Formats: sequence, C-alpha cells, structure tokens
Amino acid sequence: MSEYAVELENVDKVYRLGPGVEVHALNGVSLLVGKGDFISIMGPSGSGKTTLLNIIGTMDRPTAGRVKIDGVDVTDMGEGQLADFRCVKMGYLFQFFNLISTLDAVENVKLPIILSGRCTEREADSRARDLLELVSLQETVWRNRPVQMSGGERQRVALARALANEPALIMMDEPTGALDTVTGANVMKLTQMLNEFSGQTFIVVSHNPLVAKMAKKIYYIRDGRLYENPPESLMKFEAELSYPERRALFANQLRLLKESLLMLEKRWQGGDISRDTYAVAKLKITSQLERITAGLESAGRAVGSS
Ligand SMILES: Nc1ncnc2c1ncn2[C@@H]1O[C@H](COP(=O)(O)OP(=O)(O)OP(=O)(O)O)[C@@H](O)[C@H]1O
Ligand SMILES: [Mg+2]
Repeated sequence: MSEYAVELENVDKVYRLGPGVEVHALNGVSLLVGKGDFISIMGPSGSGKTTLLNIIGTMDRPTAGRVKIDGVDVTDMGEGQLADFRCVKMGYLFQFFNLISTLDAVENVKLPIILSGRCTEREADSRARDLLELVSLQETVWRNRPVQMSGGERQRVALARALANEPALIMMDEPTGALDTVTGANVMKLTQMLNEFSGQTFIVVSHNPLVAKMAKKIYYIRDGRLYENPPESLMKFEAELSYPERRALFANQLRLLKESLLMLEKRWQGGDISRDTYAVAKLKITSQLERITAGLESAGRAVGSS
C-alpha cells in the first residue's frame, strides 16, 4: 500500500483548440499528497486549478506525465474501471455543483450511495438525510430540486454528495464560493474536522486565502505551474481593497458608464428610444457617475492622509 493518496509526476495538460492553437493548462506539475493530508491550492482565474483537480479526480487525462491514486497508476486505466474507482474512492465538489436537475436534495445525495451498491435504498435514504444535516441544510429544502435552491444551498447539497460514500480522497473546487462568510467558515470547519477525525484526505482549490489557510499545507498555481508556497502578498489579502485596486475599480466603472451614456445619446438621436426613456436612463447614469467620482476622490483622500 502506498503512503500517498495522490502522486503526480510531471503532468502536462494541453488543450488543442484548433490547428496550431493550444492552451498549456498544466506545465510539468509534480505533487505528492500523503494519506490524511489536507492541502489547498490557490491561484488566479485560469491558472489551471480545475484542470488539475479534474486530472487528480480521473475525469480528465494528462497529455504527458503519470497520475497515481492510492498507489494505483490510473494514467491509462480504461473508462469502466475508472468509473468504479471514482465511485468508491473519491468525492468531488464541483465548482458549479453539477447537481442533477430532476432530483431533489435527498435524491441527489442518495444516488451515489445507491450506485456504490453498498446498502439498501432505505439505508441510502437515511444516510443522505444524515449528510444533509451534517452540512446544515435546512430541512425545508430537502425536497426541493436544484432550481428551487439558493446557490449556497446547492453548494451544501453538492458537499453532502461529495461525502456520500465516505471517500478516502475528497476534492473541492471553490467550496465556499457561493456561501456567506459564516456558512463558508462552517463548511471549512467541517472539512477540518472530517480530516482530523476520519483521516480523509482533502484537496481544496480556492481563490480565498481564508479558506486556503485552513489547510495544513498551501500550494500556489500560476500559468499551469505549481509552487510550494503562495506569494506573501496574496496571503495578506483582506476584504478591504488597496487604494490602487479601488482606484482601478472605480476608474473602470467610470469608463463603462461614460460609454453607456454616449450610446444612450446616440440611440435617442437616432430615434431608437423616446426622450423620456433617455432622460430617465441618463439621470440614473449621472447619479452613478457622481457616486463613483466621489468614491474615487475619497480613495484619493484616504491615501493622502495615511
Ligand atoms: N475544455 C477546455 N478546452 C480548452 N481550454 C480549456 C478547457 N478547460 C480549461 N481550459 C483553459 O485552461 C486554462 C486553465 O483553466 P482552469 O479551468 O483549470 O482554470 P482555473 O484555475 O480553474 O480558473 P477559475 O479560477 O476561473 O475557475 C484556461 O486558460 C482555460 O481557458
Ligand atoms: Mg476553476
């Protein structure tokens, strides 16, 4: 038996979009994750986080390199064998949840339990309910289908589903992206607890330093390359934006609003919209413009006084 839950050796992933057009999503990624570890991976949008999780989760194959899960080389394993492997060994919380739209919360969690063939329908039902309770999903939405749930509720159902078969390895892609701060912190506490008490291995991908910090070890990915530690500046990130960030944000909004105003004027002059519609929309835009200009000025004063 291997001491590692995950072993990646020089993994590359190239997406070929057309003749001569390639995206190098992963470049020579090597990674060892011990059994019972809890690691997080931070990185900007498009840096390769989901691609990496998909490869570890055997839902995608690398272009080059080897992937071993629990000591088994899965790089060239056939699809049928992989499906069984995934069902019992892995839990995956997808970035966009991927719940089945025709099933309610309980049924979504129940499905993988039934597919694993480990228990009766009644046992699966009872376990699904326990899991929904564990992730603090209100009982009033247990019979709702995903469209009838909020983003945070869907995320919790997806988490319960990821935990359904007590997998040894659990991967989470932005587990708190749709949650408020308190619920997000609860989900991460639960993750920490499961890791500590049940020895399950967790790999969590997130933009959020508060989430990433809850892991035992933090990695950083940029342009498809994996590094041992994220840059310090990234970890110091607070909810407050810095002056240049705020200024850039305001300036961007200002530019967009000015463009909207110009377009609106053209449409009025071209006879596309009435004078009244134009006047109302213009008023809205100018008041937004004023607010943003004031924001820019106060951001400037804040930096002047510090
Ligand atoms: N199926 C695909 N076909 C082509 N290119 C892809 C595909 N999936 C991802 N990519 C590209 O690979 C790169 C990495 O994408 P990936 O989804 O792994 O990023 P990410 O770090 O998860 O970003 P985010 O934080 O926005 O979710 C991006 O440049 C993306 O456009
Ligand atoms: Mg992603």
